[in-house]
Amino acid sequence: MKDGKTKIRRFSTFRIAEHWMIILSSVVLFATGLCQRFWHVDSAQWFILKMGGIDNVRLVHRYMGLFFTFEILLHVGVAVGGVASRKWESSMFITREDLVASIHNIRYYFGLENHAARCDRYDYMEKFEYWTILIGGFLMIVSGAVLWLPTMVTRILPGEIIPAAKVLHSNEALLIFLINAIWHIYNSIFSPDVFPLDTSIFTGYISRDRMMREHPLELARIEGVEPNVLLGDGPPGVEEKAADSGTG
Ligand code: HEM
Repeated sequence: MKDGKTKIRRFSTFRIAEHWMIILSSVVLFATGLCQRFWHVDSAQWFILKMGGIDNVRLVHRYMGLFFTFEILLHVGVAVGGVASRKWESSMFITREDLVASIHNIRYYFGLENHAARCDRYDYMEKFEYWTILIGGFLMIVSGAVLWLPTMVTRILPGEIIPAAKVLHSNEALLIFLINAIWHIYNSIFSPDVFPLDTSIFTGYISRDRMMREHPLELARIEGVEPNVLLGDGPPGVEEKAADSGTG
């Protein structure tokens, strides 16, 4: 904890650096990729000319694609290693509780529950966004590699794979772009819960208030109390005991 009690460490320095690398590579890949797809638009032509021509744009896109591939492989390697060595919980896996929490929240939004779903380290929306981007990232890497090395690929696979990879790469790019631009940017900047910016992935810290609202099950684990005690709906008397011992 930092500042006594109010801030809680959520992300390590590695995760902060990883997120910066993903921001950098995504911005460059979107800019250099989408201007190729929408080459006929004025702003795309302006950008291509500023980059010194289409050959430079393609070169930058391919080498940034290699860097992106390295990031994704590193991410998966570290995650698998962390979970296999039991250093980390597999907190990003989708479980039955996510389905229960999503139904609970729909009921809550209709006024049929008196509190929002109580989530653990990552809620079902964060998991959905994570897996969409991770699976999408893999599809971009595979289809990008096919477009990069068409002659090598067609020595093994049929030629139809090239136009198929082009359609996949081009449309998946648009899908990931929209998920990022609409969903991720809304959640991390414009959502009233975090506006003007959710700084947790940049500073590594999150307020205890937000943990209480968004990740109460993890907060209870960190503070070593039962979730119902932390949330104030435990059996009478337990709450006071927790507060007395400084954990409530
Ligand atoms: C988030 C990641 C990525 C995005 C958003 C993206 C986006 C795009 C887009 C929009 C195009 C133009 C497609 C069209 O003309 O319709 C393109 C082309 C291409 N991309 Fe990507 N891409 C990504 C990752 C990668 C990766 C990882 C690689 C390499 C492994 C790669 C290699 C290529 C290649 C070879 C082309 C064909 C253009 C050329 O010959 O340079 N891309 N990309």
